[in-house]
Amino acid sequence: GASSSTVRCEASMYNRQTVETVDLDWDNLGFALFPTDYMYMMKCSQNGMFSKGELLRYGPFELSPSSGALHYGQGLFEGLKAYRKEDGSVLLFRPQENALRMRIGADRMCMPSPTIDQFVDAIRLTVLANKRWVPPTGKGSLYIRPLLIGSGAVLGVSPAPEYTFLVFVSPVGNYFKEGLAPINLIVENEYHRAGPGGTGGVKTIGNYASVFRALKKAKENGYSDVLYLDCIHKKYLEEVSSCNIFVVKNKVISTPEVKGTILPGITRKSIIDVARGQGYQVEERPVSVEELLDVDEVFCTGTAVVVAPVGSITYLERRVEYGNKGIGVVSQQLYSSLTRLQMGLSEDKMGWTMQL
Ligand code: COI
Repeated sequence: GASSSTVRCEASMYNRQTVETVDLDWDNLGFALFPTDYMYMMKCSQNGMFSKGELLRYGPFELSPSSGALHYGQGLFEGLKAYRKEDGSVLLFRPQENALRMRIGADRMCMPSPTIDQFVDAIRLTVLANKRWVPPTGKGSLYIRPLLIGSGAVLGVSPAPEYTFLVFVSPVGNYFKEGLAPINLIVENEYHRAGPGGTGGVKTIGNYASVFRALKKAKENGYSDVLYLDCIHKKYLEEVSSCNIFVVKNKVISTPEVKGTILPGITRKSIIDVARGQGYQVEERPVSVEELLDVDEVFCTGTAVVVAPVGSITYLERRVEYGNKGIGVVSQQLYSSLTRLQMGLSEDKMGWTMQL
């Protein structure tokens, strides 16, 4: 009747309004920074409590030249994504997991951290304030970068007297220039990413600069990224600079166990649950570099990389290829299940998405 058509009309006007986006070349987004409208900032001094967070125009902010983060690396970051649903609304993927991981990392780095509610509220506010930068469904996502730094001034080696929590966002497409095509990895034989007792298991800023040297060399030689081995036996897989790694053999999926030297990825954990839910056996265990000679598929997981199929791995001049230049069956299936869930195209039975 008349009233239901009025409702339909209003709904479609509402949808048109909510899918309004900035004018960007959505088909050619890579993983690069597009400055957006707003960032979120919240500070904490001596008492260990964060308060008075606010949205500010995105841009430079003041920092003491002796800030602890700049000198001694007291800092942590997170990464998560917002996807646009077909109805124009926006979905966050497991933001509480990032909040929790930041709290665990902050403890390791002797930093206070926002509560889970403060963290999630900050993410929601920042994404909503920058909603027009969330790519249309299927064209990418809005990458959200929370950052916690020791912003207060220090000179001696000690934790900073003040902390700043920041959130900014950038629309992104594929992380690797290969797009969705398989990537080529090289096993790093000289440098290591982390050691037992170190900070490899938390998302501290210093873990990333330390991989640049090996990554630069790998990229110069045409590889997409570097695969690190454990520093004691120089034999077991750890992770790639930007993601975790999985191997598949006879339909059994294996991935290095989290034991302090690899990053406990939220995509890693989600993929393990999705795969088990589909009946796959998933093992978290030491995976040796020799096993790479004899597996059917290899793929990487991460917030930025999502699920990236691996087409080849080179170790000590020996190159092993997977998937005959295409994406493996298991990798494809898991990629599709995860991204459909993240975009709101399949039912979220796990309660992993948060609608904004
Ligand atoms: C992420 O996947 O969010 C990360 O933090 C990896 C980063 C190196 C891009």
